[in-house]
Amino acid sequence: MFISDLSNSVNQKVKLTGWVYNLRSSGKIRFILLRDGTGITQCVLEYSEETKNAFGVCETLTQESVVEVQGVVKKWKNGFEIQASDLRLISTSEPYPISKKEHGIDFLMNHRHLWMRSKKTHAVLRVRHHIIHAIHNFFNYKYFTQIDPPIFTPTACEGTSTLFEVQMDFMDSVYLSQSGQMYLEAASAAFNQVYCLSPTFRAEKSSTRRHLMEFWMCEAEMAFCDLNQNMVLIEEFIVSIIQYVLKSAKEELNTLGRDLSLLEKIKTPFPKLHYDSACEHLIKKNPQFIKGSDFGGADETLISSLYDQPVFVHHYPSQVKAFYMKQDNREGYSLSCDLLAPEGYGELVGGGQRETDKDVLIKAIQHHQLDQKDFEWYLDLRRYGSFVHSGFGLGVERLVSWLCGLDHVREAIPFPRVYGRKFFEQPSS
Ligand code: 4AD
Ligand code: MG
Repeated sequence: MFISDLSNSVNQKVKLTGWVYNLRSSGKIRFILLRDGTGITQCVLEYSEETKNAFGVCETLTQESVVEVQGVVKKWKNGFEIQASDLRLISTSEPYPISKKEHGIDFLMNHRHLWMRSKKTHAVLRVRHHIIHAIHNFFNYKYFTQIDPPIFTPTACEGTSTLFEVQMDFMDSVYLSQSGQMYLEAASAAFNQVYCLSPTFRAEKSSTRRHLMEFWMCEAEMAFCDLNQNMVLIEEFIVSIIQYVLKSAKEELNTLGRDLSLLEKIKTPFPKLHYDSACEHLIKKNPQFIKGSDFGGADETLISSLYDQPVFVHHYPSQVKAFYMKQDNREGYSLSCDLLAPEGYGELVGGGQRETDKDVLIKAIQHHQLDQKDFEWYLDLRRYGSFVHSGFGLGVERLVSWLCGLDHVREAIPFPRVYGRKFFEQPSS
């Protein structure tokens, strides 16, 4: 029996197994808050001849000890409680390092392996779970095929400055994948509409609240799809995830104190700004901004603050985008789009139409100072039946952060790897 299923067993005897979340006593009554991963419920144990043994066990309990409780489910306030008749100790926890006091983020991050038991962290990771479910639902409904790209890659997809190199003594170095895009482009010629949800790696040497070194990206690639159709699919995708999460994870969002009205009003179509128009808005607020350059985090926040919906910026200058981006007829511009989240959550999605002309692509590869021989397999995709295609990548943690209203993207992933702190979990003593 799980705590989440108690509503099906009112007035019936049940057996629950879980961790002691909190303990309280009042005269001859003991209150155990029991946590089993699916919820938290109060177990009430009253002293009597029959419960004498259980009462003795209760006196020895510490926070996070593991117990088995038997008792009858009763309605209580808006939920349920257990009138306990028996209690069995499974294991005793040593003094638990996390309490209700303010610990500070460093301490909590070092104890992430324990911190994930706390109510808010648990709620965030449940929302993440629902987002991932919604992603698969959306693509399955749209007849996309899931294609899992490799993690070891021979080339840079998103510029060489953020590559993680993996050195081996038995073969040439490889890189951890920055994006599965090029592999999805190959798969799109085989399956038409494809997507992936995979870990990606960026050696971003900046500790902002939006950057992780290892994050999960959901990418899609569609044959016979142009920039505009790409944006329409992206907005439909984002709204479908939000609708699903509002339905399936309402309780978790409430636990996080999220203002649901801000999410409920997100609807298609999203506002769409040409890069030039976005620059006009920016220059009004920040005369230092140089047209032709990429947007920084503060610029993105300025643009997104103009709307209460996510906003697309499209047709960025080619010079600030990757080599594969198709060039616009207007020289210097690319058929790219970024989706910026409301409330200052920054770039959620990056995407665009891909260059289909082999010779233009070769020039772009040279212009970006990449080695053409590494990209010959990618050029094959233009040699053997080139086709208009577009795609995008959604940063899963950015979406989790926005939907949960988090301060920092490190809270949106179970075990964050961020710049400037030790990668691995610390023992508590
Ligand atoms: O804009 P990016 O770099 O686009 C690509 O990688 C394309 N190849 C995707 C595609 O078209 N298939 O990254 C996509 C998204 C960003 O919009 C952002 O949400 C997220 O990935 N992202 C990060 N999230 C957390 N930490 C980082 N360091 C991130 N870098 C990008
Ligand atoms: Mg981007």
